[in-house]
Amino acid sequence: MSASPTTLAALEQRLLAQPARWLVTGSAGFIGSHLVETLLRLGQTVVGLDNFATGYRRNIDEVRSLLTPEQWQGHRFIEADICDSDACREACSGVDYVLHQAALGSVPRSLANPQATNATNIDGFLNMLVAARDAGVKRFVYAASSSTYGDHQALPKVEDTIGRPLSPYAVTKLVNELYAEVFGRCYGIPSVGLRYFNVFGARQDPEGAYAAVIPRWARALLLGELVTINGDGETSRDFCFVDNAVQANLLAAMSDDPAALNQVYNVAVDDRTTLNRLFEILRDALADIRPDVRQVQAVYTDFRAGDVRHSQADIGKARRLLGYSPSHSLLAGVQVAMPWYVSRFARPGGGT
Ligand SMILES: NC(=O)c1ccc[n+]([C@@H]2O[C@H](COP(=O)([O-])OP(=O)(O)OC[C@H]3O[C@@H](n4cnc5c(N)ncnc54)[C@H](O)[C@@H]3O)[C@@H](O)[C@H]2O)c1
Repeated sequence: MSASPTTLAALEQRLLAQPARWLVTGSAGFIGSHLVETLLRLGQTVVGLDNFATGYRRNIDEVRSLLTPEQWQGHRFIEADICDSDACREACSGVDYVLHQAALGSVPRSLANPQATNATNIDGFLNMLVAARDAGVKRFVYAASSSTYGDHQALPKVEDTIGRPLSPYAVTKLVNELYAEVFGRCYGIPSVGLRYFNVFGARQDPEGAYAAVIPRWARALLLGELVTINGDGETSRDFCFVDNAVQANLLAAMSDDPAALNQVYNVAVDDRTTLNRLFEILRDALADIRPDVRQVQAVYTDFRAGDVRHSQADIGKARRLLGYSPSHSLLAGVQVAMPWYVSRFARPGGGT
């Protein structure tokens, strides 16, 4: 798989030559912290906002440790809740581009507590849109979700064809798209929604009941705990390395093409991997570093409520209108990400 060096390189040159001011909400989280890291490397001024609901101060500290003091100088952090409209207003003040990532993720979390998911993902989202509108930002890029495809069976998923939502989380992400579209129409706010499909990489939280599958399994493999596969393992997903998601955000924010705006895009690889195969891939990648992991077998349990059976993105629209070209396949991304999990769960002697 090849990157799109021309598009990305040109964009990076533009940013280096003319630094801008960015707001990244959810900056202490997984994807948000990668956006902050990339933008600071490119010499941008970045305001990060987070309330640490599911993110961590250590993610911000890690980003700092990866950068030079000069790069880090461009960073300011606001600890705040997006349900606080004054905080959203303050954060958007003087900002050129908003990359809105803050949300409560996880389908099971939303099934357990739909009000909490609704408050952050819909009320908080609306606060951010209003604040971005009033601040006159150049672009509002937001994290949408593949869960919006709901019960529609067709593969690969094409942006215009969605089904009915299968969870409260999916409802909130669909409502985000509707609000962004309406704000574009009513107030002229230029937005782009990025429907992420199972993003993974370093700093994705491996802890807790709502951890995503890749960090959860990496943790279990490294700590010698049971790896549980929901259902028969033939459920499939389009796993997307975080660098691909970062690339999509930069392209969406900087696009000069009016036809590319007020749109939603799939962000993934256009590939499909079953959970059974994913388990083998993770086990092999970790076993290269920690040979004791090679013999581990997974156990099977019930299918999970609210999960769709198969998912795969058609990324033609993002390729055409944004110049998106994923730089990493699942395998390539796993090679980059697994050493982070190994160091996170390193134990003296290499065992548990
Ligand atoms: N990771 C994926 O595979 C995936 C897939 C589809 C969509 N998304 C979306 O991408 C975005 C980022 O997800 P992530 O995987 O980085 O998750 P994450 O949980 O690591 O990051 C979300 C961040 O938002 C913060 N946050 C939550 N509620 C907040 C609030 N009320 N005020 C301020 N900050 C708040 C959290 O503390 C956290 O740091 C989310 O909108 C998520 O719904 C992610």
